[in-house]
Amino acid sequence: MKRSVIYPGSFDPVTLGHLQVIRRAAKMFDKVIVAVLINSSKTPTFSIEERTDLLRQVTADLDNVEIAGFEGLLAAYARERGVTAIVKGLRAVSDFEYEFQMAIANKKLNPDLETIFITADSDLMYLSSSMVREIGSMGGDISNFVPECVHDRIVDRLRYKK
Ligand code: COA
Repeated sequence: MKRSVIYPGSFDPVTLGHLQVIRRAAKMFDKVIVAVLINSSKTPTFSIEERTDLLRQVTADLDNVEIAGFEGLLAAYARERGVTAIVKGLRAVSDFEYEFQMAIANKKLNPDLETIFITADSDLMYLSSSMVREIGSMGGDISNFVPECVHDRIVDRLRYKK
């Protein structure tokens, strides 16, 4: 039986931290579905097309990774896709309470669903998409934060947004 996992998130935009989680999950599972949230209470800076496109570009060398958009409840999406595992990245203790809450809620909504946590490397623990957006939109250097192959696209987009 093939083992699949969903890695959900906003990815606004994808960072080196996200890519690290995807790469590690791709080693552990037969298939990783990177599920990009379409309707969020946050208004994203990057459109759903841009976010999925950037993710496709940074995972182009990984055969077992699929990039998909999803709307509504994650627990329902997992059921629809026939997937019983979610992977999330844990950066610091401060992530834990919120992630723990979401994992329990998702399990209540879909009892078959397990949440697995991958801890970030210490050099990527500080990273977030909003940090990338803020530094990039102010003309700062984001080359240590985003994958090299999408660096220029992200920089251009954030400059344009300004
Ligand atoms: N590296 C870098 N940054 C990371 C990271 C990592 N490994 N892991 C998380 N982050 C950052 C993100 O970049 C983002 O940063 P920002 O707030 O500065 O933009 C932040 O952590 C939050 O990440 P996000 O992708 O928005 O995830 P989330 O943990 O808030 O959850 C969903 C997003 C899609 C999983 C969640 O909203 C969801 O499931 N929505 C569907 C509706 C639903 O089912 N709701 C009930 C849930 S119980």
